[in-house]
Amino acid sequence: MKADWPRAYRSGEHWAAGKDWPKWKSFVTGPYIADTHGGRYVVNLANKIAAKVYGQFGKLKSMPPGGTIVKPSFTVGMDGKARPGPLFIMEKMTRGWNAETHDWRYAMILPGGKTYGVTKGVNSRGMGFCQECHAGAAENDMLFFADEEFRTK
Ligand code: HEC
Repeated sequence: MKADWPRAYRSGEHWAAGKDWPKWKSFVTGPYIADTHGGRYVVNLANKIAAKVYGQFGKLKSMPPGGTIVKPSFTVGMDGKARPGPLFIMEKMTRGWNAETHDWRYAMILPGGKTYGVTKGVNSRGMGFCQECHAGAAENDMLFFADEEFRTK
């Protein structure tokens, strides 16, 4: 699983789906089930820019441009085997990039590397539901964070 997982998204139409994300800093103590992301197991990993502020959790006021968080997901079948689910991505773009999403670029890459959607790219309208829900976290620049019990200290 560990070996295949990162490879699953590589052909996705977002740079963050490349090979580096498994080395990004994790802000969870382990995978947890995200009801809001299809009831799959997920983790939250931040690139260098995002990692500087993502750990502020509820105190975070704004994510600097370039800050990117990936949320790889997986399911576990009745056979006990883990299978990759979509890779969810949030990338903070430069100011003024897209007022509708508060300059966040959302992306969802399916296992196998097909791009389900990217804000202002492939199936942009189909990604509206990401922002609609994330807008509920406006006071933290659209970020929700894992429940407290799963956060790194
Ligand atoms: C129904 C609400 C909802 C929808 C729809 C939703 N999210 Fe989320 N998202 C959350 C919540 C709540 C969290 C934090 C808890 C968790 O992981 O479930 C989160 C966490 C994230 C994170 C980690 C950053 C953070 O907020 O702490 C990313 C990345 C993410 N979502 C991407 C996406 C993308 C991309 C889509 C659309 C394909 C999407 N989300 C759709 C509610 C939602």
